[in-house]
Amino acid sequence: MTQIEVKVLRRTQEAEDIVSFELARADGAPLPAFSAGSHIDVHLPGGVARQYSLCNESSARHVYRIAVLRDPKSRGGSVVMHELREGHYLTISEPRNHFPLVHAVRTLLFAGGIGVTPLLAMAQRLAAVGADFELHYCTRSMAKAAFMREIAASPFAARTHFHFDDGAEEQKLQLAKLLAQVEPQTHLYVCGPSGFIQYVTDWAKGCGWPAGQIHVEHFAGAAQDTSGDREFQVKVASTGQLVTVPADKTVVKALADAGFEVLTSCEQGVCGTCITRVLEGECDHRDMYFTDEEKSKHDQFTPCCSRAKSPVLVLDL
Ligand code: FES
Repeated sequence: MTQIEVKVLRRTQEAEDIVSFELARADGAPLPAFSAGSHIDVHLPGGVARQYSLCNESSARHVYRIAVLRDPKSRGGSVVMHELREGHYLTISEPRNHFPLVHAVRTLLFAGGIGVTPLLAMAQRLAAVGADFELHYCTRSMAKAAFMREIAASPFAARTHFHFDDGAEEQKLQLAKLLAQVEPQTHLYVCGPSGFIQYVTDWAKGCGWPAGQIHVEHFAGAAQDTSGDREFQVKVASTGQLVTVPADKTVVKALADAGFEVLTSCEQGVCGTCITRVLEGECDHRDMYFTDEEKSKHDQFTPCCSRAKSPVLVLDL
C-alpha cells in the first residue's frame, strides 16, 4: 500500500488525555480523498503501525485530522503519538474505510469516548448533505469529552447529545427510549471501547434491530483468554509444508519463523491487513473484523490473532 510522508501541522489538546493532530503532506500536495468512517495506519518507530480514524470533514483535501487517547496501559503507540510535536514528520497509509455510511433515511451515531472520531466525520458529512441524524456522545465526564467546543459551534450542535457517566440521571444515554422502535429506514453506527459497543449492540438486537442496520467499529481487539490455547499446524497449500504453531505463538509468527511472510498492521484482529484464505479446517476466530456470518464460513481468517479448532488449517499461501 502507498505510504505518504506527512508533517504535523497542528497539535491540539482536545480533552483530558486526548490530543488531535492535523497532518499535511510533507511536499504540500493534496492528500488522497477519503469518506467519513475512514482510517489511516500511522507507522511508528520500530515498525509498529496503529490505526486512527480521520475526524475531519471528508471534503478536506490538504489535511487529515486524527485524535489519540493517551493510554499508558496500551502497547505504547498512544504514548509515542502524544510525544509528537508540530513540525514532526510521520509516515502514514492511504485512507481505508471499513466503516462506511450507507444511505439511510435516518442515522443514529453512538460514540463511546475516543470512539467519537469516525462518528464526528460522519456527523459532519450527514450535516453537509442535510440528512436526518443524531449523535450520542458518551464519556466518563465532561473533562474527557473531546471536540465539545467544535461541536457546539457546528451546524449539528442541536443534533448532538452529550452523556456523562458522572452527570445527572436525566442526561444519561436512554437506549430503552432511543431503540425501542425498530425503524426499517434507520441505521445505527457504534464506535468505542468493546464494552460500550457490546452494550449498545445488545440493546439494539434485544429490541429487534436487524444486524444489517447495526454498524460497528472496534479500536482494539477484545481481551482473550489464552489459557486453553494448544498447538496446531498450518499447511502452506502452495508448497505442502506443514508449520507447527505452538500454544504461545501466533500463526503469523510461526509462519515467519518458517520463512513465510504475512503482511500485518494492527496485530490484534482489527484492521484486516493479514487476512488469509483458508482452504480446509476450522478456524478459531478471535478478530473484531469479520461478521459472525463471515466467520461461520471458515474460508478466511486473521492469522495475527486467530487460531485453529481443527488440528490442521490449510492456508492459501
Ligand atoms: Fe490487523 Fe491482522 S494485522 S487484523
